[in-house]
Amino acid sequence: MKKISYLMMTLAAALTLPGAALQAEVINLATPGTSLVIDAVKGEPLRILYYGDRLEEKDLPALQASPLLHHEAYPAYGIYPQGEAALSVTHADGNRTTLLEVTDVATTQQDGAEITSVTMRDRVYPLEVKVNYRVRPGYDVIETWTDITNGEKQPVTLNRFMSGYLPIRYGNVWLSSLYGTWANESELTEEPLQHGVRMIKNKDGVRNSHTAHGEVMFSLDGKPQENTGRIIGAALCYPGNYKLFVDTDDTDFHHFFAGINEENSEYHLAKGETFSTPELALTYSGEGLSGASRNFHKWGRDTRLHAGNKERKVLLNSWEGVYFDINEPVMEGMMADIASLGGELFVMDDGWFGTKYPRTVDNAALGDWTVDTRKLPNGIDGLLKTAEKHGVSFGIWIEPEMTNTTSVLYEKHPEYVIHAQKRDTVKGRGGTQLVLDMANPKVQDIVFTIVDTLMTKYPAIDYIKWDANAPIMEHGSQYLTADKQSHLYIDYHKGLMKTLDRIREAHPDVTIQACASGGGRANWGMLPWFDEFWTSDNNDALQRIYMQWGTSYFFPAIAMASHISASPNHQTFRRIPTKFRADVAMSGRLGLEMQPKDMTDEDRAVCARAIADYKKIRPIVQFGDLYRLHSPFEKDGVASLMYVTPEKDDAVFFWWKTETFMNQQLPRIPMAGLDPDKMYRVTELNPIDNTPLDIEGKVFSGKFLMSNGLDLPLTYKVDYHKNTDFASRVLRLTAE
Ligand code: DGJ
Repeated sequence: MKKISYLMMTLAAALTLPGAALQAEVINLATPGTSLVIDAVKGEPLRILYYGDRLEEKDLPALQASPLLHHEAYPAYGIYPQGEAALSVTHADGNRTTLLEVTDVATTQQDGAEITSVTMRDRVYPLEVKVNYRVRPGYDVIETWTDITNGEKQPVTLNRFMSGYLPIRYGNVWLSSLYGTWANESELTEEPLQHGVRMIKNKDGVRNSHTAHGEVMFSLDGKPQENTGRIIGAALCYPGNYKLFVDTDDTDFHHFFAGINEENSEYHLAKGETFSTPELALTYSGEGLSGASRNFHKWGRDTRLHAGNKERKVLLNSWEGVYFDINEPVMEGMMADIASLGGELFVMDDGWFGTKYPRTVDNAALGDWTVDTRKLPNGIDGLLKTAEKHGVSFGIWIEPEMTNTTSVLYEKHPEYVIHAQKRDTVKGRGGTQLVLDMANPKVQDIVFTIVDTLMTKYPAIDYIKWDANAPIMEHGSQYLTADKQSHLYIDYHKGLMKTLDRIREAHPDVTIQACASGGGRANWGMLPWFDEFWTSDNNDALQRIYMQWGTSYFFPAIAMASHISASPNHQTFRRIPTKFRADVAMSGRLGLEMQPKDMTDEDRAVCARAIADYKKIRPIVQFGDLYRLHSPFEKDGVASLMYVTPEKDDAVFFWWKTETFMNQQLPRIPMAGLDPDKMYRVTELNPIDNTPLDIEGKVFSGKFLMSNGLDLPLTYKVDYHKNTDFASRVLRLTAE
């Protein structure tokens, strides 16, 4: 019974509900630090009573007084249709009303997790709606999703099918969300919730995190703080079109809904068929935004991210170094360079394939995954041998969901692409790129075979960069029947996920990066099959501080690929010294994105030092707890965060100056997450000064570091001509 008190408690108590005395089944879905309390009275709709700090049994009876008791946990459309609904169904006879009542509550075990499923049925129609909650021992995240089963004799139409709903008490509630675009992903917006609807949506069809993100945080105590205050976090675990919205109406609540974007996606559910929504992961923390992020990170690393507990290698990716100009000597040079810098993996990006149509620029050959032997006479075998010679692993770029009109695949199978009948074909990148129709099982086989063939022929391939550089450009599936055209967006992702399942079953060990024109696929719906994502095509270290800050709200450093690129930067043309570029990249999954042979000896030395130091702190960055300390979005001229081991015996502190003026007074940054009673010795990583920092080697108590912080010089002590307007510090704090 001990387990039950940790996981989930069920209290059947006679609670007086407004208007009637009913037998209530109050269920406390409890995690170590949180509780989601629902009320499943048979014959009534499921209700949600509470979400917040963990409650104990004695707290539950009083919840009847809470106005939250009036909120249905999964409101259905039709009767009193004025409010927003999570579910909207047109029944086979055209009736648009649904009235759900609880018929059953069941608890099942699955891989150590406990799933509570509340089944509701319509009072008249044989439509079944099962609302599920998964609680995993040790994690302050609850996953909720819904299974909708059509028991009617004819198909029903699902007009809306959200993953979940949460009422949040009206007040000084702030919403934190991410917005952006290509090369500027994951910028942060913080806003108080006003009356009306605030919607965050995606309709790209293929990728879903360039322009907005399917994750949000709610601060219940006004303007969000990093390490204090009550926060509710929500992450929709879905790689396709989504809709998250908050309706702040004339009631006392902000009504939050999240799920698949139903626009142009009404789903016809056949007799006996079940539609399962994607999961919505909810978290609560009383330790501010960083606390909610830590909850997501721990849960994500351990239960969702592919191989989330395996250290990631330091790599060199060829893209910004050579773009499409791939050839054997250049690839070998890059392998030798990354090996000599201490890296562990070389990844050959776009440009290596295409026989009839060579991939010399971006307008040909997607779909024709044969080596271009004009560029690489010894093929992939040759490259693998060269990589082995230099003692590094080898990775390769593919874009399997796409083709070009200039490809053998398209010439043979124009019916495999997404295309609306009677319309001119709309083409994307390079004026020729098209999206393959993942709803089509034949296309699913093709995509599986691309990876399977590579991995079977060349099992030594260690890493795949899986790119996706086009949205759905016309709403039309050549595979789906006329009455199922509205299924395209959903069936595309069903097909993709099915294919990824097959790939992972056959090839569980290869590391796969989710790239999509940069950061288009940073979402928890993708990561079960992927080890990491490409954060952005913008590698400018200054802008990366902002983008990585936003990304870290929901995703751990281990998944966030972060590369040292050339100066001037290829996107912003900013000139940033190597030390600063390295200090930013080291706060994520470190890599390089440049032609190393263009570096000066001094820059090479800085890079080599950074890689060596990163290897020392890699477990802290990749598996540690994140404490964001000072946000770049505060525009105070500085940004800072730190990672701390769960044992609090080792930590890394990052400090980046984000602007430079004379007579600048930057705030001192109190640290967080340390043990106040432990003593920590300070060692600077990547130092470039002629003389060490005053604090080098000194020992400070956790209490001092957290209440005071350390004063850091605003420039380096280097030869006069070597100073620049950039400054950053990385400090390791090791408990004595
Ligand atoms: C877009 C990616 O984001 C880049 O990193 C690179 O892989 C190119 N595609 C290659 O075409």
